[in-house]
Amino acid sequence: MSEDLLYQTEVKAAVRAAYSTIGSGGGEPVARRLYTEEQLAGLPAGAIAWALGVGNPVLHAGLRPGETVLDLGSGGGIDTILAAREVGPAGRAIGIDLLDEMVERARGHAREAGVEHWTEFRRGEMEDIPLPDASVDVVISNGVINLSPRKSRVLAEIHRVLRPGGRMCVADLTVEDDLPPEVLTSDAAWAG
Ligand SMILES: C[S@@+](CC[C@H](N)C(=O)[O-])C[C@H]1O[C@@H](n2cnc3c(N)ncnc32)[C@H](O)[C@@H]1O
Repeated sequence: MSEDLLYQTEVKAAVRAAYSTIGSGGGEPVARRLYTEEQLAGLPAGAIAWALGVGNPVLHAGLRPGETVLDLGSGGGIDTILAAREVGPAGRAIGIDLLDEMVERARGHAREAGVEHWTEFRRGEMEDIPLPDASVDVVISNGVINLSPRKSRVLAEIHRVLRPGGRMCVADLTVEDDLPPEVLTSDAAWAG
């Protein structure tokens, strides 16, 4: 068997361990830094407490009523819920996450936000999105694609599920300089 030079199993285990053991997200300080007052108004406290993103993709995605939007790595659901409010009941908001507990948590927050009838959360991986080809108008994601050892594969999956003319709007981390070996080989640095 050939060696996995991307260390996919190890990276996924580290990411899974990191996000299944945290007791909360960044909370209000993170949410207030990333989101507008208008967006935060009416959001369940739990969705705010579990904010773990690095930006505000919904603010820039230009979502329109009736569109289908997919949130990769939806976590506690804050961006999926904000997207659901923009696309409205004629549209659809779908969040996928690696972890069952995140999916459950986000479902609860969507119910509290009153968007559950056109919002769904599924357990799934961004490297193998559990949706048919050409089924989504907009893909959003917040602080998640950097966690994948297979970023090209994630982009290929986004391309597959987007309808012709569809768009993506993601907030993420990029690295501009070489990282020192102690960071490159740190599970915590990758997952965080
Ligand atoms: C930094 S948090 C961001 C959560 C959310 N987007 C937010 O802004 O609050 C990363 C999330 O991505 C999920 N995740 C990690 N790897 C994933 C993968 N391969 N596929 C889907 N979700 C993944 C984690 O379980 C976690 O909920």
